[in-house]
Amino acid sequence: GITRHYKFNIRLQNVTRLCHTKSIVTVNGRFPGPKIFAREGDRVVVKVVNHVQNNITLHWHGVRQLRSGWADGPAYVTQCPIQTGQTYVYNFRIISQRGTLFWHAHISWLRATIYGPIVILPKHGVPYPFIKPYKEVPIIFGEWFNADTEAIITQALQTGGGPNVSDAYTINGLPGPLYNCSARDTFRLSVKPGKTYLLRLINAALNDELFFSIANHTLTIVDVDAIYVKPFDTDILLITPGQTTNVLLKTKPHYPNATFFMSARPYATGRGTFDNTTTVGILEYQKPNSSHPSNAIGIKNLPLFRPSLPGLNDTAFAANYTRRLRSLANAQFPANVPQTVDRRFFFTVGLGTQPCPKNQTCQGPNGTKFAASVNNVSFVLPTTALLQTHFFGQSNGVYTTNFPTNPPFPFNYTGTPPNNTMVSNGTKVVVLPFNTSVELVMQDTSIQGAESHPLHLHGFNFFVVGQGFGNYNPNKDPSNFNLIDPVERNTVGVPAGGWVAIRFQTDNPGVWFMHCHLEVHTSWGLKMAWVVLDGKLPNQKLPSPPSDLPKC
Ligand code: C2O
Repeated sequence: GITRHYKFNIRLQNVTRLCHTKSIVTVNGRFPGPKIFAREGDRVVVKVVNHVQNNITLHWHGVRQLRSGWADGPAYVTQCPIQTGQTYVYNFRIISQRGTLFWHAHISWLRATIYGPIVILPKHGVPYPFIKPYKEVPIIFGEWFNADTEAIITQALQTGGGPNVSDAYTINGLPGPLYNCSARDTFRLSVKPGKTYLLRLINAALNDELFFSIANHTLTIVDVDAIYVKPFDTDILLITPGQTTNVLLKTKPHYPNATFFMSARPYATGRGTFDNTTTVGILEYQKPNSSHPSNAIGIKNLPLFRPSLPGLNDTAFAANYTRRLRSLANAQFPANVPQTVDRRFFFTVGLGTQPCPKNQTCQGPNGTKFAASVNNVSFVLPTTALLQTHFFGQSNGVYTTNFPTNPPFPFNYTGTPPNNTMVSNGTKVVVLPFNTSVELVMQDTSIQGAESHPLHLHGFNFFVVGQGFGNYNPNKDPSNFNLIDPVERNTVGVPAGGWVAIRFQTDNPGVWFMHCHLEVHTSWGLKMAWVVLDGKLPNQKLPSPPSDLPKC
């Protein structure tokens, strides 16, 4: 591979959407941010210079970061933030991954405006295991807030209530014509008839899983989270925050004399408040014998087709869709599913509440403040970085190693939750030896409503070996696990009112964050960290930190 250099200047930029202009934090003034492009095996070097008042870190979401944990990026986990005027160089290789990932800010809610695609091509001369696309197009979903997102989360955490929802969903930063004052801010995909396009879909939204569809067109799913899957056709797909999906779009054989909406709107289980709106982009065909896209024709003069999307809480669709995802699992792309398990964990994930601090009024349920937890622990980030304290043996007073491996009090997770579900705070981690084979079952609790939680694991891909509704049954459910061709990915939706089982191998020393990729849930504490120790061999050890690693 080669080395690819990028320079990311963090700076403010005025951006207008929905007739609201605001100053947002960006990379190089771009919204969405610039594309990172690499081939499998390449090294990527990104020099980040912070010119704004906010502290910043960047995360290369889904990049394995094999023995390069210092470049992973979650604030106070693998690094202290890059402060105003400071520079940090992220340096990592892309190994055994090809497809689409994305990068985003990983501190507070700054990823609302700081995100962009990572496009990973196969090595030179290695073809895709599917038809060579005529063109490739990144399509990145996001959320636009008219208000300042840092103010929104600060206020929510102070009052204990739920944060304001966004004002629009976006496709490549554009809300589209269904929103007021937004017709001109519409993503248009101009295509030729009879061609195959590779769409690289990324959900960078803060707080919403999304359904996506293109009217009158079928999509072929070929890759998720930068791992090939067995191709299958679908009219509609589901993508959670933190997930990426490559799809083939075969255009109609002849100029259809029509325009087609592509739409995304939320899959929203169990929540009282969410933004129940739709972002659309336009698929427009270029007229034969004309090199001009049909922009000038516009959507007014052509018949317009709109896709229909599932209901907002169509959990059955979500479950059936995710069940269809399977690894290629062939000789060229084997699925190295751990067949035996060294350590088993059972984590409850979900919302909860905490008492309102004295002399304060809280806006959470019954005057409490909202919290979220894993096994009833609401994770509190330290004021220094976990990875540094681990590496230098200074973890005393920073974190404890007693993260509960089971819920402290089991209950009927999908029935009526017990009255007292107050969650505790802690900075607790699980310590694992190198090359431990882990099975982790995550069970959604119905506390404050059954809800799908897209859990994201840093530093590893995992295999989704099982999922189901109701309470996980350790005596029965494992017999149905798929240990042959389960999908391999970095973010999985724990089903609303159900559970998911994953397996992974701790082949990557470091401190690895795991959290719900609904940002509000992360803010409330639905997060934890795994500490993976060095192995014995030299190539199983985490190297020393780079000299420019920021200090807290
Ligand atoms: Cu995409 Cu920890 O994040």
